Amino acid sequence: MKFFVDTADIAEISELNDTGLLDGVTTNPSLVAKTGKDFFATVKEICKIVKGPVSAEVTATDHATMLAEGRKLAEIATNIAVKVPLTLDGLKTCKLLSDDGIMVNVTLCFSPAQAILAAKAGATFISPFVGRLDDIGHDGMGLIADIVQIYNNYSDFQTEVLVASIRHPMHVVEAAKLGADICTVPPAVLKSLVKHPLTDKGLDAFLADWKKTGQSILGNP
Ligand code: G3P
Repeated sequence: MKFFVDTADIAEISELNDTGLLDGVTTNPSLVAKTGKDFFATVKEICKIVKGPVSAEVTATDHATMLAEGRKLAEIATNIAVKVPLTLDGLKTCKLLSDDGIMVNVTLCFSPAQAILAAKAGATFISPFVGRLDDIGHDGMGLIADIVQIYNNYSDFQTEVLVASIRHPMHVVEAAKLGADICTVPPAVLKSLVKHPLTDKGLDAFLADWKKTGQSILGNP
């Protein structure tokens, strides 16, 4: 399973990239707005820090402008994945960009039917939003199960399932159990994956007992 981080915050991205556990980055207009920084400069810097795919989203809604924006974004770096919304114009744009060898992330997916269309359009990634479905009382993980099952039925569907709108560690665990390819995770949730109170308690006890021995590993000749 691959981990992307869902943020446009350079400091957070650098810190997480240094762990060696990061496979890519997803941004969206809301995340860019949150940084208050220049969009192009930010995305360019992210692409230099992280080797894997970096999603940058178009902001037009009509096909012609979306296509022009997508091509412009793809010029930023070879690891750019152009993010387009799951609309007919977005799918049409996805098909043309994919045919040109540009990675495309089709975002704002809320149904299996939409995911089928994205795969047909040659999307590199489909981004189903689990948290936003859960927020309105729907079954976010049920959508992931449906998409994974459908994509597995067709060898010509090469689209990777990128679970988005993740709110907590169990979303990641459930996505992994279902065989989703990627989770894009907010920095705080990514960092919380390592936490367990019994790990902290166990480590404290080991260190206290070790101290009693008066020995040192690095001090050993
Ligand atoms: O980047 C898309 C998605 O992950 C957004 O998540 O928390 O705004 O629903 P959220």
